Amino acid sequence: MIKKKSPVSLKADKRIQKIPGGVQVLSYAKLNLYLEILDKRPDGYHNLETIFERVSLADEIVIKRAPGNSIRIETDSPDIPKGSGNLAHQAAELLKKDLGISAGLVIKIKKRIPVGAGLGGGSSNAASTLLGLNYFWNLGLSAEELKEYASRLGSDVAFFVYNYPLAIGRARGERIEPWSGFKKKLWHVIAVPKLNVSTALIYRDLDVSREQTGNKKAFGSSRIKNLGTNGSSSLRVKDILFNRLEEVTFKRYPQVGRLKRNLEARGLKNALMSGSGSAVFGMVGSRKGGLRIAKILKRSKNLKVFVAETAV
Ligand code: C5P
Repeated sequence: MIKKKSPVSLKADKRIQKIPGGVQVLSYAKLNLYLEILDKRPDGYHNLETIFERVSLADEIVIKRAPGNSIRIETDSPDIPKGSGNLAHQAAELLKKDLGISAGLVIKIKKRIPVGAGLGGGSSNAASTLLGLNYFWNLGLSAEELKEYASRLGSDVAFFVYNYPLAIGRARGERIEPWSGFKKKLWHVIAVPKLNVSTALIYRDLDVSREQTGNKKAFGSSRIKNLGTNGSSSLRVKDILFNRLEEVTFKRYPQVGRLKRNLEARGLKNALMSGSGSAVFGMVGSRKGGLRIAKILKRSKNLKVFVAETAV
């Protein structure tokens, strides 16, 4: 494998902390501020264009040595698999196999990011595992090399390998460019219904709806071509908020569409679904403003509600 120069210093990455006998990694969630699907590829995936925002809602990953040669997941969450179905498990297995490492590991996942919500929790845990093991095993892999591993694990994993608060994602979502679109941190209220959405299913529905209408309606064209890497100081968030998958998810799960309208009725203008759902988020001016709306939304037993900001 050719070593490329890392665009970011892994040593200066504040997400990664050395702890006695191991390493701890902060595993952030993401929101998609913009998501357009461009076309379907011969490999079955879809080319897309997205703007990722890393947000302060986060899981915590602790990695330590364990006896033997196997990987064990320990978690406080009943919602994630403990075996090879867990993306963090797959990440560790991939590195072990590819680099011929023989060592036992325990990966502890303190889960706060809801599962199947379009917030990238599983992908983020996988990226954190790659970052943590790179440090723990002293592998000296560059961000570019980690990104190669990330892409094999899932389309959203690469974003979390890089240390970028905001980034543009292209191709399957794994081609990442940093983006400094807004000068200030953004604050959000994120509402998550008790509903686990399968991303694969939503993409399948998208294709079906395209076939049924007999045209390419389900796909769009680039709207961020002229955005530039640095963004512009006059750019307003509301100018980019868009998610092509909303229509498809709302059709299969009408309660997600109702949630969006509910947030808008509470004053969260331009509420948007993240990824393939089920999370819907709104923009607020401050933490205080967010907490006020969150308090009202939390009266609904069917919702998990978070106030989160851009994680810089
Ligand atoms: O890459 P990941 O495993 O997260 O994707 C889950 C599923 O979502 C894929 O199996 C695929 O059906 C769909 N997908 C897609 N195009 C993308 C990303 C995901 O079709 N760019």
